Amino acid sequence: MKRKIVLGGVAVVAILLGLYGRDLLDLYRLQSYISASTEAYEADGGPWPQLTDVCTGCHGTKGSSQHQRYPSLAGQPAPYLAAQLHNFASGQRINPNMAPLAMTLSQEEIDRLANYYAKQPLSRDSSFQPEPGLRDKGQKLVAAGGCVACHGERLMGREQFPRLAGQGSDYLRVQLDAFADGRRKDLTGAMGAIAATLSADERKAIASYLTSLPAQ
Ligand code: HEC
Ligand code: HEC
Repeated sequence: MKRKIVLGGVAVVAILLGLYGRDLLDLYRLQSYISASTEAYEADGGPWPQLTDVCTGCHGTKGSSQHQRYPSLAGQPAPYLAAQLHNFASGQRINPNMAPLAMTLSQEEIDRLANYYAKQPLSRDSSFQPEPGLRDKGQKLVAAGGCVACHGERLMGREQFPRLAGQGSDYLRVQLDAFADGRRKDLTGAMGAIAATLSADERKAIASYLTSLPAQ
């Protein structure tokens, strides 16, 4: 009796497959496509809506900004990114765009964002063309200033020290000016002291050189 039922079941499945086989197969393919692409999206930055969706408008796709005024986040060390998000939230670093946003982020979200952007490769804004004279002047100032001691080999950043290579030129210049006149402060005060010894023209030259450096 049992055997008959099993055989009957197999026959029903066989008939169904014969009738609807193609459709079933298509449905199965569609389902596996949906789950594969969802997995890829989630692996990229968590379930929809992703936390990074908000950042893209200003910081570019996957944190590679195509605008010299907005910093790229791609390839920055995770501890640096996390520290800056905390600084915006606490008011230690002042910015009207970032402060209200950073205040809404939990510790877990800050860590997730920092780790995500740290892993992305930076693609530099290819439209930037440094003035050769300015860039050469900047190169000399950076070599004399010993910036690699903190900002790492090839100025690629490490731990709490940001990557400077390939970062947006207007952004870097604004940051150096802000350190020089005390609007931006770092914990040790080192950057303030360094930037204050440079003239506005020298800071511009440094920014131009740093932006022209390879980002990888
Ligand atoms: C409306 C535009 C805007 C949006 C949206 C935005 N940012 Fe920003 N962000 C800025 C600007 C402008 C700066 C530079 C601030 C300054 O000049 O000090 C900045 C700076 C930063 C910095 C510091 C970078 C550095 O090199 O020091 C981090 C980190 C950052 N943003 C993370 C994020 C994250 C993560 C999101 C999404 C959750 C986000 N931002 C969304 C405009 C934006
Ligand atoms: C003693 C260590 C030290 C040295 C040397 C140093 N820096 Fe920095 N720099 C820092 C730290 C730390 C920060 C991050 C400050 C913060 O937390 O806001 C920083 C931040 C910066 C930033 C802001 C980057 C961003 O993404 O917002 C720029 C630009 C910069 N440094 C340029 C330079 C240049 C150019 C030199 C060499 C002339 C230099 N620094 C030398 C420690 C150093």
